[in-house]
Amino acid sequence: MARKPAVLGGKPAFNNKIYITRPVVPTMNELRPFLSDLLRRKWLTNDGPYIQRFERELRAYLEAPYCATFCNGTLALQLTIQGMKLSGEVITTPFTFPATPHVLYWNNITPVFCDIDPETYNIDHRHIESLISPRTSGILAVHIFGNPCNTEELEKIARSHGLKVIYDAAHAFGVRLNGKSIASYGDASMFSFHATKIFNTMEGGAVACSDGHLYQKLRDLRNFGIRGEEEIVDTGINAKMNELQAIFGLINLKKIDETIKKRKNLFTRYLMNLRKIPGIKFQKITDKTSYNYAYLVIEILHEEFGLTRDETFICLREEGIIVRKYFYPLCSDYPCYRGLPSAKRELLPNANMVSSRVLSLPLYCEMKEKDVDRIVEVIFSIHYHAGKIKKKLHQV
Ligand SMILES: Cc1ncc(COP(=O)(O)O)c(C=O)c1O
Repeated sequence: MARKPAVLGGKPAFNNKIYITRPVVPTMNELRPFLSDLLRRKWLTNDGPYIQRFERELRAYLEAPYCATFCNGTLALQLTIQGMKLSGEVITTPFTFPATPHVLYWNNITPVFCDIDPETYNIDHRHIESLISPRTSGILAVHIFGNPCNTEELEKIARSHGLKVIYDAAHAFGVRLNGKSIASYGDASMFSFHATKIFNTMEGGAVACSDGHLYQKLRDLRNFGIRGEEEIVDTGINAKMNELQAIFGLINLKKIDETIKKRKNLFTRYLMNLRKIPGIKFQKITDKTSYNYAYLVIEILHEEFGLTRDETFICLREEGIIVRKYFYPLCSDYPCYRGLPSAKRELLPNANMVSSRVLSLPLYCEMKEKDVDRIVEVIFSIHYHAGKIKKKLHQV
């Protein structure tokens, strides 16, 4: 007999709300020596010693010849596109965070939305060639939820049409594909170090690339284009990471393997138990991937589960479980993009379907196994009482 869901008058499963994520933070003991040095030195930003050290360590971790840090991932991506001189149109996915198409807009580029693969949720390379026009200059693909894109096919298409490939790897820090760091693929990869990401510097981001000219360009662009006291070489902006962010990064980078291990344990526990509930589908992680367990995303299949994603969302929120609809709405449905020819719903059937079904569940390092078990129990009880819940939610 399943418990009575809160939406039917039962006791909520969590008195203190359980959130989708909680950041990994340094301890006071870890911070103290760095902080006292920072305050004594008073070098707070502008390519200070901690930024330089953090960039060295990031380069080693990401196995990237070059790595530039930024104050956030959005500006990192925006300046990468500016630095590569992309123009006209760029092909991208609609199933992503708003920053992905917005960085194109800020570069005066029209996003061209391409449908996604319904299993991996990544851009579907099979549709790309039909979207290439004389104005196309690149492909901006997203390793969504940290799941690697089909890099081989994307890069093959890009090579044969003379296009650049940039990966929005905001979710993919720590991921490996075919035994190589995910940063090894494409012309550049952007990582976000926002507080919600598996590796954070509070706010922050980085771009990894193998082209030394692009790296120099990124260094110029993140600092107003200033190369020397009397030498301004480009139309840059202020997008620098500061020393305190770099200190966070240096401390958290030491914990990344442990972070991924803890998340893997919780992720596996979720999967093992959620698989027993009808109507729940999971993202297919690309073969030959060493995954970072960045997100626990489920698809709610209405027919088998008994409720829609939106009904399930209401039920879980009533239980104190703060799930999120990542990514809904699709970028192609935002008022600023929905007039584009590529944004038509009939051209993006898989993206529309997945976006209407997905829910992200709480997953973070400090989460207890018993919380995972409780969330699964709640989801089961919602499925079990689906008929009654539907009536209750739709009664007038
Ligand atoms: C896919 C994706 N791209 C870009 C960004 C922007 O990164 P930031 O928040 O560091 O600016 C995010 C998110 O936070 C994201 O999820």
